[in-house]
Amino acid sequence: MRLCVFETEKEAANAAAAEIVRVVRNKPDAVLGLATGGTMEPVYEALVAAHGDGLSFSRVTTFNLDEYVGLPPTHPQSYRHYMSKLFFSRVDIDPANTHVPRGDTAPDRAAAEYEATLARFDPIDVQLLGLGGNGHIGFNEPGSPVTSRTRCVNLASSTIEANRRFFDANEQVPETAITMGIATIMRARRLVLLAVGERKSSAVKAMIEGPVDEAVPASILRDHPDARALLDTAAAAKLNHPEHTA
Ligand code: GLP
Repeated sequence: MRLCVFETEKEAANAAAAEIVRVVRNKPDAVLGLATGGTMEPVYEALVAAHGDGLSFSRVTTFNLDEYVGLPPTHPQSYRHYMSKLFFSRVDIDPANTHVPRGDTAPDRAAAEYEATLARFDPIDVQLLGLGGNGHIGFNEPGSPVTSRTRCVNLASSTIEANRRFFDANEQVPETAITMGIATIMRARRLVLLAVGERKSSAVKAMIEGPVDEAVPASILRDHPDARALLDTAAAAKLNHPEHTA
């Protein structure tokens, strides 16, 4: 896994966006794997700016990593809503080419259908990934099998707590989700993980310097032939050798 450490969060996010821009420029009908979360917001801001500068997404197909079970696409905290608001509605992408797992239908069937649709477009050209504070990727919590595919999962209590900030105080935070599996993610041609802030520094250290182990799902990315981690100095602060490639 190649490490790139940037001075600021903004620079790291811009570098992640630049990876996507490069792929779409070289291959206008690219298949993009997309991610959500606070970390990704400036990435979509930069992609919208690239569109303003002339980059077209009209032939691109996208697959998001995950979605909460129980939230309809119109729910303000659903990942479909996040994607529409921050990216899809602001560029020239064809909504029919955007895929986010359906959280409001029978979850096991929705997961199997998602994996089958994705298999028709394989491989994803570049997959964006955030990092959970407990080392999760997508919603693959610690212990997720390396062989896992898109499926319905229970969220770790730390994940439910971390995501509570996005929901109203009187609202129930979803406890289950549909996520691409580890094996699904590992099929992508290139992986670009973005992690910023001190809050992620322990998970970053475990991902890079701990054992490759299902207990830290992100560590498995080190077995991918073309994976890079884009970090800011705060997220990289606990690494012994931030200048080294893991
Ligand atoms: C959620 C998402 C992950 C994301 C993580 C980090 O759990 N399912 O894909 O990486 O949040 O989110 P944030 O960027 O808000 O810290």
